[in-house]
Amino acid sequence: MISSMNTASDSNLEHIHTPVLVKEVLEGLLPERGGVYVDATLGLGGHAKALLEAFPQVNHLIAMDWDEEALELARERLSSFEEKISFYHSNFKNIELVVSEEGYPGVDGILMDLGLSSYQLDESGRGFSFMRDEPLDMRMDRNTTILASDMVNKLPEERLAQLIQLYGEEPWAKKIAAAIVARRSDRPILSTFELASVVREAIPRRFHPRKIHPATRTFQAIRIAINREFENLTQALESAVRVLNPEGRICVISFHSLEDRIVKHFFRNCQDLKVVTKRPIRPSDKEVKENPRSRSAKLRIAEKGPQTTEVTK
Ligand SMILES: C[S@@+](CC[C@H](N)C(=O)[O-])C[C@H]1O[C@@H](n2cnc3c(N)ncnc32)[C@H](O)[C@@H]1O
Repeated sequence: MISSMNTASDSNLEHIHTPVLVKEVLEGLLPERGGVYVDATLGLGGHAKALLEAFPQVNHLIAMDWDEEALELARERLSSFEEKISFYHSNFKNIELVVSEEGYPGVDGILMDLGLSSYQLDESGRGFSFMRDEPLDMRMDRNTTILASDMVNKLPEERLAQLIQLYGEEPWAKKIAAAIVARRSDRPILSTFELASVVREAIPRRFHPRKIHPATRTFQAIRIAINREFENLTQALESAVRVLNPEGRICVISFHSLEDRIVKHFFRNCQDLKVVTKRPIRPSDKEVKENPRSRSAKLRIAEKGPQTTEVTK
């Protein structure tokens, strides 16, 4: 569903999702060397467009996204680069498979810009945001079968509490799970507003977080669980390292601490990667001001090669 958009014109899509840390990503990928690149989370194609416009020496871009609707919008937006791009509706854990399908033994750079695009949050009608009253779906890929409403209405209380605690780092997880179970015994919870109000009421008012909506952590947890985000990310990182050419670069942008921790530890522990960014790159104050959704972004960069060698940025 593409609600308020009739076309995938560039200005439309640019307005809907502003890519983060673009300059830093382009510097990190070293595309001036040319070669083959993978945008494993194409989204609306903001990073891909910037890459192809600024670096004509890039020979080929393999563009993947798990969300078919986003992929179609990006395909239209990037039509002027058609001959340089291959589009894949695929989970990024399949990077290796996709690259080999394209006939390459390896690639020179990989970008993973994790999480959701603003299109998914604001336009997709899939219940990712508690700011809109929508059905509780939360699937990145509509071909998968478990919806957020299934999880919320069917999981045993203890399991729900565990997930909310683990993936949302929510201190009130047990209370929230108990409130969900109490409410669903009356009638199923089917919409974002219903879930958000159950969560809000489960947390005593004086403990409501000051900077975020009380349901933020619960929504994050359910989304991560439904889409198996951490399992996919770990497999994608492993797969990415296998397909990188020597000195090929991987750039990963994460948006919350749990995700960033997975990337940081993976980079540190992988024998075949040299860490380029000892500390993550954060958006400037100017970028955060212009695009508040960039505020939690962290970019980590690594290079294929034995861990012992020094890397200069
Ligand atoms: C932050 S957006 C990317 C935005 C993009 N860089 C741009 O400039 O428009 C993240 C994208 O990753 C996609 N995604 C999330 N999990 C994925 C997965 N496991 N495999 C492939 N794509 C995934 C989402 O569907 C979403 O479109």
